[in-house]
Amino acid sequence: MENMDKDIQQVLLTEEQIRSKVEELGKILTEEYADKNPVVVGVLKGVVVFFADMVREMDFPCQIDFMWISSYAGSNSAEMKMVKDVSANLEGRHVVILEDIFDTGNSLDFTYHHLLSKEPASLKICTFLDKPERRKPGVRVQADYTGYVIPNEFVVGYGLDYDEKYRNLPYIGVLKREVYEK
Ligand code: IMP
Ligand code: MG
Repeated sequence: MENMDKDIQQVLLTEEQIRSKVEELGKILTEEYADKNPVVVGVLKGVVVFFADMVREMDFPCQIDFMWISSYAGSNSAEMKMVKDVSANLEGRHVVILEDIFDTGNSLDFTYHHLLSKEPASLKICTFLDKPERRKPGVRVQADYTGYVIPNEFVVGYGLDYDEKYRNLPYIGVLKREVYEK
């Protein structure tokens, strides 16, 4: 990944660290959902890489679905708009939300309450990364399963972008300052 590696200041999580955590989370979810035929909902777009890895570590029948949300005015806005809702009927179903990163919590707060209004039998959140230092005070929603808690740094790779780039980087890294300041 030479063309993108040069923009990375520091590797935060290697491919190996990512793989072992995904395996661990997959085992936990398999115990929880083995006989529940849940709907696994991914929040686009950042989740795509984690989602594809996670579902292959889930050893149980499940349905997959996607929601696509974005913030109105940049990622600091608390106001979210829904680009695409889930297609499945979630009423009475066990639902698990997969997210790439739990940052301010605006996205997960919106997603959680939106899906809760569809009256699922249960609703849980699994996030790969968590930046608790960034959480907005009003956000009460919590993750049920967390991969890695990371420091307050802007990271890219493994689905996460800067200006829609670097999502296809196979590891998670901190971008060099000069990339932002270009
Ligand atoms: P929220 O602030 O918890 O609502 O997170 C909103 C979205 O911001 C996430 O789903 C990511 O797409 C994006 N985001 C938050 N932190 C980072 C980061 O460190 N790198 C890349 N994207 C991020
Ligand atoms: Mg983003």
